Amino acid sequence: MPNSDHEKNREAWNEMVEVHWDHPAQKREEFLDGRCSLKPMELEAFGDVNGKSLLHLMCQFGLDTLSWARRGAVVTGIDISDQSIKRADELKQLAGLEGRFLRSDVLDAIGLVDDKFDNVIQTYGTQCWISDMEQWAQVVAHYLKPGGQFFMVDDHPITCLWEEPPNSYLHKEPIRYSGEPDYCDREHIIETERVEFQHPLSEIVNALINAGLTIEHLGEYDKGYYPIQADWYEKDRYWYPPGGPPMYPLMFSLKARKPE
Ligand SMILES: C[S@@+](CC[C@H](N)C(=O)[O-])C[C@H]1O[C@@H](n2cnc3c(N)ncnc32)[C@H](O)[C@@H]1O
Repeated sequence: MPNSDHEKNREAWNEMVEVHWDHPAQKREEFLDGRCSLKPMELEAFGDVNGKSLLHLMCQFGLDTLSWARRGAVVTGIDISDQSIKRADELKQLAGLEGRFLRSDVLDAIGLVDDKFDNVIQTYGTQCWISDMEQWAQVVAHYLKPGGQFFMVDDHPITCLWEEPPNSYLHKEPIRYSGEPDYCDREHIIETERVEFQHPLSEIVNALINAGLTIEHLGEYDKGYYPIQADWYEKDRYWYPPGGPPMYPLMFSLKARKPE
């Protein structure tokens, strides 16, 4: 049975992807001119990916997936949104790159392909859409080869305190909302209901440990991956609030490995 909350998000993302596809912040045209959409953290985490197999979970329209392909990785991207996958295939054609894009809820992804991967990655704006971190971690572990590496980077869960009204860090109930602006195009109101899930850092880390992975590094950062307020400034592909470091982290990253 499809997860009904995830299905709502699928509909909402079908709408949001079209808003993002044309939005200048996504730098799609620059990507087609050769710009790499990847940021320093994931580039440093994986190093040379030439000839390696890479699975990108929750890949949207594949800008990052295809940036890895440009670096020589053999890529597969998975996303729940039909429109994401349609646009990812279109982008692949436009860029003249190789890659495989598959539509699936990340929680249902086991069995989608028979392959195992050297690298599995999930980045920037994903964990809030996942209702069950234990099930998610099983998918990550399933698709890694022995010795394979997982990397994720995302909003730090403590940023829930910045929501209006703030959410509890330990919040357990799904957070439902509609009629709110798209995060990329604040002028565009998404009427479709979206459902988000709050996961404390311990829940994410423990889910990966329970799935048999070894955590190799956990990072916490004073920068974000997009300007949450209009006065944030950009440096080295990340965004900083004015007035010095914030009181608590804005992003976290995590490296884990499947034992040999
Ligand atoms: C903020 S975007 C991720 C963008 C990503 N960093 C990139 O490389 O473009 C979140 C993505 O997660 C996808 N998504 C949301 N819920 C999902 C689920 N349950 N399973 C798979 N993908 C999902 C959405 O369709 C959307 O494309």
